[in-house]
Amino acid sequence: MSRADRIYDWFDTRLDVERGQQFLGKAFPAEDSFLLGEVALFCFLLLVLSGIFLGFFFEPSTSAVEYDGSVEKFQGQEMPEAFVSVLHITYDVPFGMFIRRLHHWAAHLFVASIGLHMLRVFFTGAYRNPREPNWIVGTGLAALSMGAAYTGYALPFDEFAATATSIGYNLTISVPLLGDFLGQVVFGGEFPSSATIPRLYFLHVLVIPMAIAGGLALHMWILIRQKHTEAPREDDVVAGDREIDKDDDSVIVGLPAVPNQAAVSAVVFFLTAATLSALAGLLPVHNVAEYGPNDPASTPALIMPDWFLMWVYGFLKLLPQIGFSVGPAHINGEFVGGVLLPGLVFLAIAAWPFIDRTPEPTHFTADPLQRPWQTGVGVAAVAFVMIASIAGMNNILADQVLGTTTEVVNPILTAALLGVPPVLGGITYLLLRGGDTSAPPDDEGVAADGGAADSGTADGKVTDGGTSDD
Ligand code: HEM
Repeated sequence: MSRADRIYDWFDTRLDVERGQQFLGKAFPAEDSFLLGEVALFCFLLLVLSGIFLGFFFEPSTSAVEYDGSVEKFQGQEMPEAFVSVLHITYDVPFGMFIRRLHHWAAHLFVASIGLHMLRVFFTGAYRNPREPNWIVGTGLAALSMGAAYTGYALPFDEFAATATSIGYNLTISVPLLGDFLGQVVFGGEFPSSATIPRLYFLHVLVIPMAIAGGLALHMWILIRQKHTEAPREDDVVAGDREIDKDDDSVIVGLPAVPNQAAVSAVVFFLTAATLSALAGLLPVHNVAEYGPNDPASTPALIMPDWFLMWVYGFLKLLPQIGFSVGPAHINGEFVGGVLLPGLVFLAIAAWPFIDRTPEPTHFTADPLQRPWQTGVGVAAVAFVMIASIAGMNNILADQVLGTTTEVVNPILTAALLGVPPVLGGITYLLLRGGDTSAPPDDEGVAADGGAADSGTADGKVTDGGTSDD
């Protein structure tokens, strides 16, 4: 036995490397859109790494300290320590500004790639039986990613972020019966108090990232157990010494995990890192020096959440100021627009695989053009979120675009929010239904025109056993 064999044997008897080796040969379907999930994964990794760097210098405290750094206008001023530490990171720590910007852009790309990944899974029907559990875990991950971004936004404790964070505080305390308790837990009581930044910091660097990491581990475990979906094949496929029937969805055909897919993933990682580095190098982010430290006595003119929370802000802007009591519970507009409606949106997303129920397991992706009502619902949902997001910017739309007031645009936006999505969804449905009627029914999961597995990869193709034998 050679030395290498002996080393292998040593590890194999302890760690069951043999089983791991089987994983190395797993098949990954060669579909470009399947890389969106990987982009999200790599953004999370870069967020953790850049966050660790920032954690060495950030001070989660609002105690007043005297500023002594490179920004002339704050020299010698007493300001909250959190704000001072972010100034320090930005202007005095080597690479601090770059890493802070990279962290910022990675957060945006993280949420954006999750949204696109979700749309890809939706429109190709990859949520169907047996992948409903992974869709639900994914919905939780989407909500957590927004929570992570929101809690991070508050940390510099500058004027702009603190004002935007106070909106979140008001929504939290609006929850009937539980509001005060939740306000204590999340914000440490009335906002802004000295407890707020330590609370949000704890959520931002520990609780939410751990929950995301746990959710991701579950997401990947389910993915590996169930295997990917695969695009319908145009022909029978020869993979190694096996011939796979084109309609046999008990096996997956694709690139082996190692080395082919690993090489593709490495490229995706470096492209993600390069894109974020370019953004961090070229585009400034949240300019704390310009906003200045939080001043409870003033309110900046233009307060806006980040783009991915704009739809929630839109609900808040459009809903009338209501307030009524049901027994001991008080319901107000902030609760309905900022908590109840967004909660219902997430609930509807999580419940979707049970609305579009698929009795039989389906391992081929579907062609969105051959799923009239599901694609119609998807188009309507995208339109709904986009119009709600536009409503979140109603003051800009009114002032700067239309030269009028929000009182004039709000009823139009409300009508658009309620009317345009069903109309667009209906048109999509009618257009697709009037198209190719020779398509097989959805439940078979085979779309006649769907893209085939990449024929250029025939040499490197491997197959993976069905979902039942693993
Ligand atoms: C932190 C956020 C997320 C990360 C990092 C992530 C990552 C991934 C990766 C790497 C894959 C395999 C490659 C691919 O199909 O794209 C995957 C598959 C999947 N994801 Fe996600 N995901 C996230 C959020 C979501 C969300 C929000 C949903 C839906 C609500 C979702 C549902 C699914 C489903 C159903 C699959 C299996 C798809 C298939 O087999 O074709 N994921 N995810």
